[in-house]
Amino acid sequence: LAMSVTTVSTSPFEGQRPGTSGLRKKVAVFQTPGYLENFVQAVFDTQPALRGGTLVLGGDGRFYNREAVQVILRLAAANGVARTVVGQHGWLSTPAASCVIRKRRAQGGLILSASHNPGGPDGDFGIKFNVPNGGPAPEAVTEAIYDRTRSIERYLTVEAAAVDLDRCGAASVGGMAVEVIDPVADYAALMQELFDFERIHQLFNSGLFTMRFDAMHAITGPYATQILERMLGAEPGTVLNGTPEPDFGGGHPDPNLVHAAALVEMTRGAHPIDFAAASDGDGDRNMILGRHCFVTPSDSLAVMVANAHHVKGYHRGIAGVARSMPTSRAADRVAEILGLPCYETPTGWKFFGNLLDAGRITLCGEESFGTGSDHVREKDGLWAVLFWLNLLAARRQSVREILDEHWRRFGRHYYTRHDYEGVDATAAQALVDRLRAMTTGLAGQAIDGFTVAYADDFAYTDPVDGSRSERQGIRIGFGDGSRIVYRLSGTGTEGATLRVYLERYEPDAQKQHQDTQEAMAPLIRLADGLAEITARTGRAAPDVIT
Ligand code: G1P
Ligand code: ZN
Repeated sequence: LAMSVTTVSTSPFEGQRPGTSGLRKKVAVFQTPGYLENFVQAVFDTQPALRGGTLVLGGDGRFYNREAVQVILRLAAANGVARTVVGQHGWLSTPAASCVIRKRRAQGGLILSASHNPGGPDGDFGIKFNVPNGGPAPEAVTEAIYDRTRSIERYLTVEAAAVDLDRCGAASVGGMAVEVIDPVADYAALMQELFDFERIHQLFNSGLFTMRFDAMHAITGPYATQILERMLGAEPGTVLNGTPEPDFGGGHPDPNLVHAAALVEMTRGAHPIDFAAASDGDGDRNMILGRHCFVTPSDSLAVMVANAHHVKGYHRGIAGVARSMPTSRAADRVAEILGLPCYETPTGWKFFGNLLDAGRITLCGEESFGTGSDHVREKDGLWAVLFWLNLLAARRQSVREILDEHWRRFGRHYYTRHDYEGVDATAAQALVDRLRAMTTGLAGQAIDGFTVAYADDFAYTDPVDGSRSERQGIRIGFGDGSRIVYRLSGTGTEGATLRVYLERYEPDAQKQHQDTQEAMAPLIRLADGLAEITARTGRAAPDVIT
């Protein structure tokens, strides 16, 4: 039944190294004959466990999602996959895919998404492979897939009618069993185990609490509508932009202060809502807001660590916490005081995988709006929102009160990230190389009133498998607890993106309520001066301030 089709041996990765975010390109590129097939066949050729096994398949609903699902089903059948579990309409959020892979003990999953990148015919498409623990493929796997894409000469497919993706139930493609599942059910059941739905329901019922969740026309719409409005009793209309659109309504589905500005506005003014949150294209990022208050992702992680015992699924305590290196050290402070292990890992979710699998950590997070736990192996947007809801319901306090109390107890880590986008790649690399060379002689020096305590280029040895990752970003720490981190983005598409992460520790409760950019102005000036940012990039100011 299976037929072999000769295909090009130029790798679909051309011009892009394989990261854990998989393959990301413009939709038009994915539509070229053999392009998607090349990647998918390389997965089957390098992952023999899928033969006779179970594959999970779904995506964030962006343009080309449906077509790609049908292509992949035919390739899966030809490659001897026994059963493919696919979300209705071809939908699965990234964390839900992770959940389904684990729950159904699948041999892997293919997730169709380009995360927060815009979609539509002129937008981006993407695909990535997740391994049986539900997490992104580790480097050895992505490298093997990459190598295979460069030598591949054929892909296997079958001739078969398209599966009706809109109807849940059993189907088949070329002898392979296909199960079209409700994309929300497994995930919602897991959330019900982790959070006190009864208590959250009471909070919504009290009539004293208003919330809005912005799904940004992306995949979390159906998840949030089912869980928040139907299961937890939030009033209809709580979920905004809840229908996934192939082009995300023309927007940029990235939950931050810029792209979710309308939501942020609802937490301000004369009649602010109590709680607001948003998630991104594929549902793994989150933004948390209270009345007149934005919770930085770094603070959110620290608050979760300090309050885990209030939350049903974590009430027995947590094993430890990990944060990516540029994330503020707010969580470290909590871990230190509570006597919990705390790990600093390189940027990227994949570095949490071993720590989670080994049971060394329970919670983890990144400053880039990513938070999660050992319940799946991806960061999880809606999970973070439910964690906060459980906390608000248990403590009967506002977001503001919880944050203020947290800062009083642990100190505040003022935090901001400045991004310089589309910078000349050579200039950006030279800037970082110069800083790296400088790090050796910096310690002990006093510059503009700041004394350098340490400076290095962050390197990480995985405590579980001993693997080493070097050159993960320049860290410069100061005597007063401030810190500057410089690194180049690994996900940008045009030129280079320089990210500058700034952090200032303020233990004095009287000084914890300043405007962030003002409170950090001297450090921001120092960061520019040290790295010669303006001179070397020609930019007087960052493009994006978070
Ligand atoms: C960015 C974030 C990083 C995150 C990654 C994937 O990577 O900074 O924390 O893991 O996206 O969502 P970067 O562009 O900085 O390399
Ligand atoms: Zn994402």
